[in-house]
Amino acid sequence: MLEIPKFYESFLSKVSNVNLNSPRQLKKVAEIVAAMSEYFTRKNLRKEFVFYDYLSNGEVQKGYLVYFTTTNLLKVYVPLNEISHSGFFRGKKKLEILDIGTGLGTVVMGTIIWMHENIRYFRNTEVKFVALDKVEQNIRKFQENLEFFLNELRNHYSETIKVEVEPAIFDIEHAFEMFDKRFDLITVANTLNEVVYEKRNKLLRLINSGIKDDGFVILIEPALMITSRDLLDFRDKMIKQGFYIYSPCLRNSNCPALETDKDWCHTEVEWKRPEFIRQIDLVAKNYRKTLKFSYIVATKKDMNLIDFVAGERNFKDYFRVVSQLIVEKGKKHCFVCNEIGRLHCVKLDRVDSPQNQIFDEIDRYEIITMKNFVKSDKEIKITQETEVKKVLNNEGKI
Ligand SMILES: C[S@@+](CC[C@H](N)C(=O)[O-])C[C@H]1O[C@@H](n2cnc3c(N)ncnc32)[C@H](O)[C@@H]1O
Repeated sequence: MLEIPKFYESFLSKVSNVNLNSPRQLKKVAEIVAAMSEYFTRKNLRKEFVFYDYLSNGEVQKGYLVYFTTTNLLKVYVPLNEISHSGFFRGKKKLEILDIGTGLGTVVMGTIIWMHENIRYFRNTEVKFVALDKVEQNIRKFQENLEFFLNELRNHYSETIKVEVEPAIFDIEHAFEMFDKRFDLITVANTLNEVVYEKRNKLLRLINSGIKDDGFVILIEPALMITSRDLLDFRDKMIKQGFYIYSPCLRNSNCPALETDKDWCHTEVEWKRPEFIRQIDLVAKNYRKTLKFSYIVATKKDMNLIDFVAGERNFKDYFRVVSQLIVEKGKKHCFVCNEIGRLHCVKLDRVDSPQNQIFDEIDRYEIITMKNFVKSDKEIKITQETEVKKVLNNEGKI
């Protein structure tokens, strides 16, 4: 289960001026969060809200920092865990990361914590972030907070990594010049949906020209139908520009969720919800009991997570579980996805057997392998002979 390290709460309380143990103060934050959630999730309000620089408002900034930064902080762990299986982080002297749409620094801080939790890869690595945002106040606030963050972090971990963060203030919608430098990793979280649709080609060009040949791009978006489908659409556009999808897809062709107008694709990961988030949830009626989000990891090299998890490129017997397991009287079923397509996978209780038993315990976004199943059109039938194994959990760990 994902968990935020303890030092983060004392950092947060210092920079937000909110006592995270005070129900009265949390109630005030919750009221702001409730209003923001309304704007973020209501389609007609969303546009208006995101195109006004909402984070530059002090109260909104506080709500974002305490609630949204915390509930988004750990999401980057999953793609980073998945990338780590490729050996990408091993033995790097320098790691240069571009974070597009940094805001108050969620992804930069989440990545720094992940690196310290995985210190074995980074003992001899110098890490440099470029934090890009169009709103100067956001970056300035983040830089101010970062000092407190790094101080708390240094007190928490016995070994620390050399980290540098350089700001870059510009609007990617109006970017004529690309970076003359290329990055090992580019991260874009909760930002694609704030870039007007017609200008997303600029974002794609920026990513395309900014990523190293062996680098990785991580995109994270909310699990809402509209934002998730927008991400899948961007995924398909990346493929047309010569990118390969490393994860979560076990295919490099178009996304089958976009073949209908009702499907989308997201993960749902367990986390140890901090007590102050639980209290805000009660008032704001948000309920972040789990972390739900959509993500894409892309590269310019033809690499896929399955190459490392299975030891071979196998897009036929390995599947990403793309729905929850639905349990009904007499059967269990879910949707799985790979090169064959987005398939409805059904197991009747009467075909229960020791080799297919693990199917009853699968979770959304795990990778499973199945052998000896029956396939018809868009359906997979599990039989008594079908062998089912889990090969990756939805935190990206084997
Ligand atoms: C919802 S916040 C996300 C912040 C952070 N990545 C996170 O996940 O919490 C989106 C950020 O993207 C920035 N942004 C939106 N459109 C942008 C653009 N065209 N150019 C640069 N930054 C942009 C906003 O100013 C805001 O700080």
